[in-house]
Amino acid sequence: MLTGMKHLHSTLAVILLVALVISIVITAVNYFKANPYNRKIALLGLIAAHLQMVIGIIYYFSLKYHTMFSSGVMKNPDMRLKLIEHPLTMLIGIVLITIGYSKAKRATESYAANRTVFIMYTIGLILVLSRLPWSTWSLIN
Ligand code: HEM
Ligand code: HEM
Repeated sequence: MLTGMKHLHSTLAVILLVALVISIVITAVNYFKANPYNRKIALLGLIAAHLQMVIGIIYYFSLKYHTMFSSGVMKNPDMRLKLIEHPLTMLIGIVLITIGYSKAKRATESYAANRTVFIMYTIGLILVLSRLPWSTWSLIN
């Protein structure tokens, strides 16, 4: 069960990174060329992010991380990353992506919608990249 969750969360991480890059690049091109806003392309990054968030939260509770808080956790960089920094930063990044999608949906001009998704998704991606467990990620180690 835990191994399955790990593989799913790890595979979805790659899918999400690819989806976000596609959403950002195509929206950026639409923005700079003054093309119409493409909601389907923004939806690609949004669905991948929401799916990964739900799986991540289930994985977090399956690993019983919510029961492991102690003063030692804050002093240990590895534990702090896994128990606090990774989940919290990812959550903030995904909330920003969702706000971007939501604001763009309500925007009346393509120009504003493209700009909102471009900026919010880029900040979201930077946050996600900043707190991936790079040194322990099973896929690359
Ligand atoms: C804890 C779980 C989740 C929360 C709190 C959540 C929250 C949200 C919020 C706040 C929005 C923005 C609505 C808007 O203004 O357009 C949204 C949109 C959306 N979410 Fe989630 N979501 C969750 C899980 C999921 C999952 C598992 C999926 C699918 C794989 C998903 C797919 C979508 C889609 C497709 C939209 C866009 C709908 C539209 O076009 O308006 N979400 N979600
Ligand atoms: C709120 C959202 C999230 C929660 C609660 C969460 C939770 C977790 C947990 C508990 C682990 C296990 C850490 C360990 O013991 O090694 C983990 C690992 C990981 N997470 Fe997340 N995560 C979330 C979002 C994300 C997102 C958005 C991404 C990526 C794009 C991501 C990518 C990864 C990767 C690559 C690993 C390492 C998996 C492996 O070693 O195979 N996570 N996450």
